[in-house]
Amino acid sequence: MGMNSHAVASGLILGIETSCDETAAAVVKDGALALSSVIYSQQVHSKFGGVVPELAGREHERRILTVIRQAIDDAGLKMAKPQIDAVAVTTGPGLAGALMVGVAAAKALSLAWGIPIVGVNHLEGHLFAVHLEQDSIAYPSIMLLVSGGHTMIVLVEEPGKYRVVGQSLDDAAGEAFDKVARFLGLGYPGGPEIEREAEFGDPKAVRFPRALRDGSFNFSFSGLKTAVVTYAKRNADVGVSDIAASFEDAVVDILVEKTLNAAKAFGAHSVALAGGVGANTRLRTVLTSRARTLGVAVYIPSRQNCTDNGAMIAAAGAWRLENFGPSDLGLGAYPSLALP
Ligand code: KG4
Ligand code: ZN
Repeated sequence: MGMNSHAVASGLILGIETSCDETAAAVVKDGALALSSVIYSQQVHSKFGGVVPELAGREHERRILTVIRQAIDDAGLKMAKPQIDAVAVTTGPGLAGALMVGVAAAKALSLAWGIPIVGVNHLEGHLFAVHLEQDSIAYPSIMLLVSGGHTMIVLVEEPGKYRVVGQSLDDAAGEAFDKVARFLGLGYPGGPEIEREAEFGDPKAVRFPRALRDGSFNFSFSGLKTAVVTYAKRNADVGVSDIAASFEDAVVDILVEKTLNAAKAFGAHSVALAGGVGANTRLRTVLTSRARTLGVAVYIPSRQNCTDNGAMIAAAGAWRLENFGPSDLGLGAYPSLALP
């Protein structure tokens, strides 16, 4: 097994993330130690119950410089001569107009400071969040990547060697949280809202369906969403908190079951959690306890490192830089980039 301390570029890397509705920047030392991490979560979308792409781009534009300045400042550096060795930026997947703001800012800093730029895949960034809090990772590792746009089980042989062994065939897990929350009249983003509501509910109140129990590592969440909507309409007497708790239980149950089945099937030495839905307390607790029963190591990054942030982009960028060198200054935004 590889208890591997992987090669990363040493020095200070500024990571910039603007793929969706978080404007984020961080300074990371030697690919693993976050000296600062600033995250501005855009508020403009809440009244629409989902991210409005045009507004996201405009908000990034408005906030990006302030967020970067703060990250430089929090790291104890100076914007004028900040001693940053390289700038890493998310190039995709994500919203085109949102990605372009981060990419343009990174290019400007690369030119102004005369430092290399490195483009980072957002999904690889999420996987690298684990490195920010874990010195050595037991490979092969099964990583559950659950965000607003993606739900996948990734077999990581070592950093950079990824095999997607399962994914959602329809909605992403985060998307299901957001849609169910909107239906239940809760706010956006839906994940934290459902979680708050579920605290007062009984997760066993309603037995919602667990889809695709077919031995595969794929997921389907659109049927669950429909089942929740249908149930709630027919049972107006059942409280929102019971429905929220039961829905959350169904999502967590299937996510954990398939992740651990994959860990068994591929002989993984560890399992790890990544992506915004990874901030969910129930998911964190259930995955931890069931993984322990299985006897594999389990890595759960802090909530802040699960949701979109600049530190994970800097960490992945440090590794990319060391192993593949800098990107061309002509790099662009690639909205539908796949995991490398
Ligand atoms: O990774 P992320 O910040 O952005 C994307 O790359 O999509 O994930 C955002 C998603 C949203 O769908 C949000 O509802 C969900 O993560 N989320 C949660 C929680 N916090 C955020 N879902 C469940 N429970 C949470 N506590
Ligand atoms: Zn994300």
